[in-house]
Amino acid sequence: MTDIQKFFWGQKTYCLITGASKGIGRKFAVEFARRFAANSLLVLVARSESGLVETKDLVKNANADVKVKVYPTDLCKPDPELFLQMIQTSLTESGCNPADFDLSLIIHNAGSVGDVSENTSNMSNPDKWQEYFSLNLFSVACLNSQFLKVFSEGSVKQRSVINVTSLCAIKPFNSMGYYCTGKASREMFFRVLAKENPTLTVLNYAPGPVDTDMVSEVISGTGDADIKQMFVNLKKEEKILTVEQTTNRIIEVLENGKFESGQHVDYYDE
Ligand SMILES: NC(=O)c1ccc[n+]([C@@H]2O[C@H](COP(=O)([O-])OP(=O)(O)OC[C@H]3O[C@@H](n4cnc5c(N)ncnc54)[C@H](OP(=O)(O)O)[C@@H]3O)[C@@H](O)[C@H]2O)c1
Repeated sequence: MTDIQKFFWGQKTYCLITGASKGIGRKFAVEFARRFAANSLLVLVARSESGLVETKDLVKNANADVKVKVYPTDLCKPDPELFLQMIQTSLTESGCNPADFDLSLIIHNAGSVGDVSENTSNMSNPDKWQEYFSLNLFSVACLNSQFLKVFSEGSVKQRSVINVTSLCAIKPFNSMGYYCTGKASREMFFRVLAKENPTLTVLNYAPGPVDTDMVSEVISGTGDADIKQMFVNLKKEEKILTVEQTTNRIIEVLENGKFESGQHVDYYDE
């Protein structure tokens, strides 16, 4: 392993991943854990307990020396007390303190696409807005804050925060009003976080179009024929990415460390 690789991978890591029950989050969990040092602790969060347990088994196969905790949680309900308890319990139940780790890493990956049948001119239901932002922004901010309370400045050698963002954070797409505004605001939250905290490393990673349930949901639910065709064509022409491809890319990005904290880095960026 080179010195650059040691900068990120190969360290004793505390890592929390949301949305780890399937899709991109599951692959991140497995491939990241493969690169952690022995006695690292990986915390997996999503609603589906069976999905999380399946991810845990895959992680254990990849690296038996990593401890794994699963917390089935609905992130639609931002609950700072519960989030703090979850992080603290994961540490106490594993007999660990924050200072036992070299790197603390939180990956905000969970997300939903929202109602893609609605155009922005019809988005008049405040309960729907509330529900969408509860999961995709409010919970993210609350969980992040509790994480940084436990892994405060100086508690570990290196602290990193990854937000799984999208091209939709910076480019409008028809019928994706909730998703685009959610991703844009979430990304800006992490840019402010990076600016306020020079000792944190924050990465806004856009994984590219990836073949997961989320894309199937857009294809079946969108009210826009062009958007539907765009995703259908991506699949048909095999231009859609696999979870492996996007995971390999972020591993490389983190290994090289050549981004500015808070920067939006896309799969397709040079
Ligand atoms: N696929 C793409 O083309 C693409 C492109 C750009 C960005 N992204 C982003 O990548 C991230 C992962 O998406 P994906 O494509 O892997 O989609 P996915 O397969 O649908 O996975 C979404 C994950 O989020 C979790 N989740 C959803 N609602 C939740 C809730 N209420 N509480 C807790 N967890 C919840 C799901 O777990 P449970 O259902 O078990 O709760 C699942 O683990 C998202 O942030 C997405 O916006 C995806």
